[in-house]
Amino acid sequence: MNIILLGPPGAGKGTQARLLVEERDMVQLSTGDMLRAAKTSGTEMGKKVAKVMDAGELVTDDIVIGLIEEQLKGTDRQGGFIFDGFPRTLAQADALGQLLGRVGQKLDAVIEMRVQDDILIKRISGRYTCGNCGEGYHDELKAPKVEGVCDVCGSTDMVRRADDNEDSLKTRLMAYYRDTSPLIGYYYAKGDLAPVNGLGEIDEVAKAIRVILD
Ligand code: AP5
Ligand code: ZN
Repeated sequence: MNIILLGPPGAGKGTQARLLVEERDMVQLSTGDMLRAAKTSGTEMGKKVAKVMDAGELVTDDIVIGLIEEQLKGTDRQGGFIFDGFPRTLAQADALGQLLGRVGQKLDAVIEMRVQDDILIKRISGRYTCGNCGEGYHDELKAPKVEGVCDVCGSTDMVRRADDNEDSLKTRLMAYYRDTSPLIGYYYAKGDLAPVNGLGEIDEVAKAIRVILD
């Protein structure tokens, strides 16, 4: 099964993708994670995209399509792919359809996660993750049991994303409404769209997604 998690920044795409990976043997393909890894390792491409990402703008289609193409070729698909944060433009959506078609695959569902702006801003402004194991935390919504210490691995290396500030967040939301929200109509017309209320507790949202996938 191949699915897209579509939604604005902070809708919970990454959170739900990680739960699906644990439960269903699916492979998460997050273009945001791939780009951040390129940025951290200082590759030519990473240097090129760093400023664009930190400002909250979209990276060019050719770069992200190239990353996804590489992953689709090089990854054993197991229970299928979860596309997290990709596609984000109509050109990327067309490219994904072609790439999947070439390997004899298709999309099974596009889960549109709906969350209103004020909640997105609240979720993102307090967010940080464990730099060692990737567990996500939040100043108000999900603090670790001991301040500054990861519940899962005990690391004290907590990191905040460079684009999780007020200015970049405004730009990210604008980019979502301008470039990505047209995909809602695109996938609706194909009969692939399945909207989910992203406002409930993490477990409730996960349950709603499971109902769609089963
Ligand atoms: P990317 O990494 O994809 O970021 P994003 O879309 O802005 O999404 P986020 O990761 O911020 O949010 P999320 O929906 O995953 O929410 P999360 O689960 O973390 O992209 C970053 C940048 O890379 C882009 O701006 C762009 O520059 C570039 N880029 C990436 N892909 C690209 C592409 N295809 N084309 C061009 N450029 C691209 O949850 C957020 C917080 O809320 C967490 O603290 C979490 O614990 C909490 N939370 C989650 N669910 C709930 C819930 N139900 N209730 C309460 N809290 C919750
Ligand atoms: Zn950890």
